[in-house]
Amino acid sequence: MKLENKTAIITGATSGIGKATALLFAEEGANLVITGRRSEKGKAVEAQCRQKGCRCVFIEADHSKLEDCQMIADAALKEFGQIDILFNNAGIVTKGTAETTSEEVWLDTMNINVTAVWHMCKLVIPHMKKQGQGVIVNNGSDWSVVAGKNAFPYIMSKGAVGMMTKAMALDYARENIRVNAVCPGDTFVDRWIEKGYFEGSDPVTIAEAVKESSAYIPMGRFGKPKEIAKAVLFLASDDSTFATGHLLLVDGGNTAQ
Ligand SMILES: NC(=O)c1ccc[n+]([C@@H]2O[C@H](COP(=O)([O-])OP(=O)(O)OC[C@H]3O[C@@H](n4cnc5c(N)ncnc54)[C@H](OP(=O)(O)O)[C@@H]3O)[C@@H](O)[C@H]2O)c1
Repeated sequence: MKLENKTAIITGATSGIGKATALLFAEEGANLVITGRRSEKGKAVEAQCRQKGCRCVFIEADHSKLEDCQMIADAALKEFGQIDILFNNAGIVTKGTAETTSEEVWLDTMNINVTAVWHMCKLVIPHMKKQGQGVIVNNGSDWSVVAGKNAFPYIMSKGAVGMMTKAMALDYARENIRVNAVCPGDTFVDRWIEKGYFEGSDPVTIAEAVKESSAYIPMGRFGKPKEIAKAVLFLASDDSTFATGHLLLVDGGNTAQ
């Protein structure tokens, strides 16, 4: 059990990578505070984690609001008395170019993908300093290090997450607080189906469409949430005690081309 006696906050754990990480951390013995806006889904993840013997609390929160971030940090301390790990995972994907991106989309993207990450760090770092240790993992993207087309606001936000990770790593390296980022390539999550990214409704048609659309990735497939969760576990656990300021690409070789 790599996270026994550790308390972790995972933001945005109602689905996708956050949910997979919550389930993996539960298996590794962590106490968990998990968040998101969709209460029903969050409660279901909470129940799954508890079935694994984990002390897990889901709290509905909108991380684009500072007061909700504060509430989560307070709740983790009240419930468990410590915060050892913060996984800043909550995020949204937005499209557009510099011309077509509206002010509203720009601000929404920056609020949740960048400002909320900073707010959560700002709130937990004082406690980590008092404890004399702590680990922060931010969810970046392969677009933290390379760009792509028609995703201007998202790429700007994930680029910022990359530099925020490095800047904070340097500021807190002597405080025994490590700050790293996992940078996933395209990872197949349920939300893609919900958003109708693939045409058709039967599983076989969708599976074919998914295979076809992942052909650009050197490994010829999309990532799985659990594969990203395992990289988060590496960064969050004592398996990576000398790593800080690192952007860990988990992208099937996409950025190697
Ligand atoms: N999947 C990929 O290909 C990929 C690649 C690179 C990076 N990422 C990053 O991975 C992270 C997770 O995304 P995912 O792919 O797993 O998709 P997802 O299933 O849509 O997960 C996003 C999570 O963020 C939460 N969230 C979004 N806005 C929020 C807000 N304002 N307040 C609280 N929670 C919020 C969502 O919860 P609610 O909707 O319940 O609020 C959900 O739990 C994101 O940061 C994303 O940028 C994903």
